[in-house]
Amino acid sequence: MRHPILTATAMIAVLAVAGCMPASMPEPDEGASFFAANCTACHGVTGRGDGPAAAGLNPRPTNLTLLTADNGGTFPTARALAYVYGDAQQAHLARVMPQFGGAMADDLVPVEVDGVMTPTPRVLAALLVYLESIQQ
Ligand code: HEC
Repeated sequence: MRHPILTATAMIAVLAVAGCMPASMPEPDEGASFFAANCTACHGVTGRGDGPAAAGLNPRPTNLTLLTADNGGTFPTARALAYVYGDAQQAHLARVMPQFGGAMADDLVPVEVDGVMTPTPRVLAALLVYLESIQQ
C-alpha cells in the first residue's frame, strides 16, 4: 500500500456515501427485469437489436452487447446513461428510441460516471450493470 492515508480517506468517503445512501448498487438481475419489460421489443431478448419491433425501425436498434467493443474496450457508462434516461429539453427532436427518465422513480444510488459519483435512478443504475454484464 503506497498511500495508506489516502486509502483510509477514500474508505471513509465510501462509508460516508454508503451511510447516507442506504441503497446499495443493484445487481444485474434487477436491471434484467426492467430490460425484459421495456427494451426487448426493439433490442431483443439477448440485446442484439433483433426484437420483434426492430425490423420496421430506421435506424435499427443498436446491438447492446457490442457497446464496450464499439467504445474501444470500455463500457460507455455516461453515454448509455444519458441516452436511456433521455433529455426532456430535446423531447421535440425526432428519435426512434423512447426516453425512460420520466418512468424512473427517484430512488437514487451513486454511480461512477467518468470518475464522478453521480446520483442515478436505481432502475437506471441496475440497467447499466445489466448492460455491462452482457458485453461480449
Ligand atoms: C421503440 C424501440 C426501442 C426501445 C423500446 C428501446 N430502444 Fe434502445 N434504441 C433503439 C434504437 C432505434 C436505437 C438506435 C439509436 C436511435 O435511437 O436512433 C437505440 C439505441 C440504444 C442505445 C445506444 C445509444 C448509443 O449510445 O448510440 C442504448 C444504450 C439503448 N438503446 C438502450 C435501451 C434500453 C436500456 C432500453 C430499455 C429501457 C431501450 N434501449 C429501449 C430503439 C429502442
